[in-house]
Amino acid sequence: MMKVLLLTLIATVVMARHTNLKPRAAEACDSTKCSLPDCKCASTKAPADIETNEIPQFVFFTFDDAIQVANYDIYTSLFYNKTNPDGCPISATFFMAHEYTDYSKVHDLYINSQEIAVHSITHEALTDYWRDISKEGLTDEFGGEKTLIAHFANIPEDAIKGMRIPFLQLSGDNSFEVGQEIGLTYDCSWPTQTFRNPGLWPYTLDYKSNQDCPIGPCPSEAIPGMWVVPMIDWTDQSNIVCSMVDACVNIPDNADELLGWFIDNFNVSYSGNRAPFGFYVHAAYFNVDPIRLEAYSRFIDYLQGLDDVYLVSPSTAIEWIKNPAPIGSGSWTSCVEVEDLGCPGPNACQLQKGDETRYMTVCSECPDVYPWLGNPLGEQQ
Ligand SMILES: *[C@@H]1O[C@H](CO)[C@@H](O)[C@H](O)[C@H]1NC(C)=O
Ligand SMILES: *[C@@H]1O[C@H](CO)[C@@H](O)[C@H](O)[C@H]1NC(C)=O
Ligand SMILES: [Zn+2]
Repeated sequence: MMKVLLLTLIATVVMARHTNLKPRAAEACDSTKCSLPDCKCASTKAPADIETNEIPQFVFFTFDDAIQVANYDIYTSLFYNKTNPDGCPISATFFMAHEYTDYSKVHDLYINSQEIAVHSITHEALTDYWRDISKEGLTDEFGGEKTLIAHFANIPEDAIKGMRIPFLQLSGDNSFEVGQEIGLTYDCSWPTQTFRNPGLWPYTLDYKSNQDCPIGPCPSEAIPGMWVVPMIDWTDQSNIVCSMVDACVNIPDNADELLGWFIDNFNVSYSGNRAPFGFYVHAAYFNVDPIRLEAYSRFIDYLQGLDDVYLVSPSTAIEWIKNPAPIGSGSWTSCVEVEDLGCPGPNACQLQKGDETRYMTVCSECPDVYPWLGNPLGEQQ
């Protein structure tokens, strides 16, 4: 009897503490309670009282899906050996899906200052799968991909800080809670149409978000410390919004005008409130039409001519947001420390995924079986 009572008491205390630490429903954000560096309300206001032209304009160049040999050469030509105004290397961000990825190229991108992030193992094609997925399923998809990349690309697991869900299909609180549980800093899957101009700054989920919810369900619980990097929509030439640039429909068909259209979208932030500007595409973006690569490359040159524009990963921008200071002051730099663990081999592995053959080049021994959900290291079972 005593034992039962005691257990009940402990359970009650544990539950109360749990509720205390993590209220189920997020409350309205009060900026006097939610303050940097750990907490930030969803807002179009800059994170500190800084003259707009002294706020670094961050630009996120991201790619989704597999990193393969063919695209890798394009990435190196675009992003290697170039620097931000503070002399640090520029970075693009790669949201990686597992299938067809060459992990030795992932290693190379990482040691050359590019950010590696997770985009699931299966990249399942049904959006319902992502909408309805459980936290366990998400842990296998994103935590598994993190484990898999760290092992086969031989990079430190804590270098992987971001996630993007396939098709930008949110699953309410689940993906954000799992992102936090598996040690990620931010999610970059949530578009905004409403907060384009002025743009929505990255924020944490400690309190209720007022962000519009184009592909819900969106989170409603408090998830302290997890950062949302909103995908601020672009508009095409018919003024129709698009979150992934390769999903914009009415776009110019020659390189000069395409570049002009990139600059117009960029200028919404740059001449506006300087919320970070994202240029989000899939790895196959350049395969479709050669004018895209020309315009993209010239756009990078254009940005490199501006002394207040920084081409960085979302995680580097978040470091500035946590301790914002006018350009050139404060301790923030866009330099990222990279730990090169080497790429043993690399080994080109031929494996079976059901009836199909998959090739996988890795900075490790070849796995026994093709790595997949529930077995990210591809161990014999
Ligand atoms: C970057 O610079 C290094 C050192 O000068 C050079 O070896 C490498 O080929 C360059 N890479 C690219 C893609 O330009
Ligand atoms: C950017 O927008 C501002 C304000 O709307 C405008 O004055 C400026 O000409 C634009 N710059 C470019 C390069 O389009
Ligand atoms: Zn994808």
